[in-house]
This record gives sequence, structure tokens and C-alpha cells, in this order.
Amino acid sequence: MNSSSHTPDHAPDDHVIVLFGATGDLAKRKLLPGLFHLAKSGLLPKNYQIIGSAPASFAMSGEQFRAHARSAVAEFGLAKPTGADWREFESRLTFGAADPDDPKPLLEAVQQAEESLGGSPRRLFHLAVPPSAFGSVVGMLGQTRLAENSRVIIEKPFGTDLASARKLTGIVHSVFDESQVFRIDHFLGKESVDNILALRFANGLFEPIWNRDHISHVQIDVPEAISIEGRAQFFEGTGAFRDMIVTHLFQVLGFVAMEPPVSITAKHLRDEKAKVFEALRPIDVRKVVRGQYHGYRDEPGVAPDSQTETFVALQMSVDNWRWSGVPFYLRSGKSMAQRRQTVTLGLKEPTLRMFSGGPGLRSDQRCNEIVIDFDDPGWIAVRFLAKQPGPTMRLGAAEMTFSYDDSFHKMHGLEGYERLILEAMLGDQSLFTRSDEIERLWEVATPLLEDPPPVEFYDHGSWGPDAIRHLIAPHKWYLPDGRE
Ligand code: BG6
Repeated sequence: MNSSSHTPDHAPDDHVIVLFGATGDLAKRKLLPGLFHLAKSGLLPKNYQIIGSAPASFAMSGEQFRAHARSAVAEFGLAKPTGADWREFESRLTFGAADPDDPKPLLEAVQQAEESLGGSPRRLFHLAVPPSAFGSVVGMLGQTRLAENSRVIIEKPFGTDLASARKLTGIVHSVFDESQVFRIDHFLGKESVDNILALRFANGLFEPIWNRDHISHVQIDVPEAISIEGRAQFFEGTGAFRDMIVTHLFQVLGFVAMEPPVSITAKHLRDEKAKVFEALRPIDVRKVVRGQYHGYRDEPGVAPDSQTETFVALQMSVDNWRWSGVPFYLRSGKSMAQRRQTVTLGLKEPTLRMFSGGPGLRSDQRCNEIVIDFDDPGWIAVRFLAKQPGPTMRLGAAEMTFSYDDSFHKMHGLEGYERLILEAMLGDQSLFTRSDEIERLWEVATPLLEDPPPVEFYDHGSWGPDAIRHLIAPHKWYLPDGRE
């Protein structure tokens, strides 16, 4: 892993990048804008071509694809599609449709792109397609031998349960060696998630207290204000647990809970994360709240009696030496009060007996906690007690904050996806997930998938169903904390 946000030591090899699902939502919101931002930052290879691909029923001409990319970048990109940088980027975009039984247009497009680049560029396939299509696309890459000299980025969720994940692993490994496989979870590309490793392992202040002797509980809280945004078909088949928890929040948990790795190379980092997942106790369905926002069933494409959850809160236990007895609470949902992405570590309190009257804090005042806000640009706060000025020893809430925005000059601030696409081109798997990790997570999830409690309803703009308060008692959810 290149641990700084500065230019990597070397540029990626020349590449032909093929974007499967190029006409879809992810390509529009993240991948096309991200690739342009990488190009503008000078981080793409010297020579590259990008080929959009989709089934023939969604085929576009090169001209149409360039117009599609331009409007995606205009709407969602940080860097706008204008000037010489855009013209240069646009000149490298082409389109080649592919169906499992008719990959010819794509094969021709790849051949042309490789001829135009000369030499033997590497191929990078990004599978931004629904999980049900992974198998057939991978099979096609094998049959056509496009898989040679390539790497493949596979989107989440990898499978929908243990059996399907194992099956998918088998298909992927029949075509690709594991060293070519990059299972992406874009939360691992977020600066502030990687910074958890720096915070924990580079600081004498935090490293010694990161365990059950000093931490009472951990919250990983990712409420979202957006609803399903028209993604009924995807969401009905997936739900918030598969979309967010078994993927993003468990990966963040892995970083929060892991033992110090021998180094931050792919093997060591992923070995330690896998050990955390080995130590996770299978989900206890009594410690899960599944929610659905009022009005979800009225969304176009949603079944009128849908039991799909748009919200989940649950308690996890990491059954190892460091974390025994420390509950981890995870929460995420759509149509909630606020968009936030936080990890909060509750610290055990000293007795405070020498301070008569105790801290006397208002209910919105916090102390004895470390908060990591990992939404871009991210901040970290340590909340503690201090003596209030005055003649008596009265305590008040105080805070020390580090903010990415104020503290570093960002040369190449990259979004999660951008960072990870770059790492995949460089061949560094540190921030990508391994099949054993993923299969273990599905195994841990099995009790919930097999026996989900019924959904409880919550209001749009709330923090979830009432039952979440019992779930976390005697602790309390830290959000809302009044920060925007
Ligand atoms: C995606 C989920 O993986 O992550 C979405 O499918 C979710 O449902 C999104 O909204 C959140 O990502 P970000 O980049 O907004 O943190």
C-alpha cells in the first residue's frame, strides 16, 4: 500500500481498461468521473485506452459513449469536463458491447486499443455489473482469453450468501489466479479509513489503550439521508445488510479491531483482517434490529408486502484476547436523519470520586470517547473532561480535534474508488478483500440470513426503529451529536 496521498513511486504500466456496466449507475456516479480525475491528476498510465462495455441491448456508439461520459463527469465529477485535459481523456474512450454468447464487438475494441497503444499493455477489467452477472462475464473473459495479462476488479457484494460466494470463488479461480483478482470495497479506499491504521499503530497515545482494558464498546455508525434512489430492483434483492454491513461496515470493523500487522503489505494486512473475521461470533439474531422506512413499499418496483430491510443495527462480538467482552454496535440505513460515517470508541471511565458532584454534563455533551469521522474529508476527535475555569473544581466537556481539511495540503485528494482503481493498476492488493475473508463473513452472517427477524418501521428522517435503544443499552448511540 502506498501510504501517502502523494504521487506513487512509479506510474502504472500501460493499460487497456474495460468498464463492464459502463452505462450503469456506478459508472456514471463514480467510475467515469473517477477515471477522469485520475487522468487530470496525472496518475493514469502514460498510455491508456478506456473501453466502455455493456450487453448489446445497451450498446452505444463511441460518440454516444463519449457524450455519456461527459455528462456523467459534468454531473458527478470534482473535475469538470472542459479544456485540453478533457479532450485528451475523451480521445481515449471507445465502446465495445459484449454478451456471453457474442463478445465480438468487445474483442475488436480491445484489439484496436492494444494496436493503438503498441507493445503489450496490461488489461484491467472492472466488473461494475450486478452480482448475478459476475459469473457469465468472468466465464466470457476466460473463453475469449481476454483474461490473459489482465487484472479484474469485482464489485461487492461478492455473492449473496456463503454458498453463492464459494461458487463465485470457484468460477473466478477457474479463470484468474488470485493475484489477478481485486475485490473492491470502496470504503477501504477512503483516506480516513486507512488513517485508522496510522492512528492506531503510529501513536503512543492510542496504541496502548486500544483494547478491552480501556474501551467499553465500539460503534460503527453509517446512517444515510438518501433513500434507495430508484434502485428498487437492486435493493429488493440485496437489502441494507448485504449492501452495507457484510461489506463496508465489517471491513471497517476489521481495521478497527485487527492486531498490528507485521507490515502493511497485502499479505500481512489481509492476514490480520482475516483473523478478526475468524474471531467474530456468528450473528445472534436476538441482537439485530431490521428496519424499513415508512413509504418504502410504495416505491416503484418494491413488493407491497416487502420484508426487505432498509436499515440494520446489530451487535457483534470479536471473541479474542484483545476484545473479549467489548460489544461492537453497527448501524446503517437509508432515509435517516443525517449522512454520517463514524467510528466511536467509548472509553472506560475512571471513578471520578475525587470530583464531587461528578461532571454534570448536559445530555448533548460528550466525554471519554474517541470519534473517527471517516466521511471525506474526515476528522478525529478525542472528547475528555477538563476543569472549568473558576474557583471550584468543576468538570466540563472538552474536545481535541484533528481535521483533514485543516491539517494537510492535499496534492491528490482521491476518492475511495479513484484510489482503489489506481492501486489495482499498480497491482497492490492491500486494500482489496480476499476470498477467505469474504467467505468467513458470509458464514458469520448465516444465522441472520436464514432467520431474519421481521422488519420494524421507522420514519423518514429518523435514527431508526425504537428498538435500537434496547439493543445498545446500557450504552447509548452517540449519533446524533449535533455535527453536520
Ligand atoms: C454503496 C452502496 O456501496 O455505498 C450504497 O451500494 C451506499 O447503497 C454507498 O449509498 C455509500 O457510499 P459513499 O461513497 O457515499 O460513502
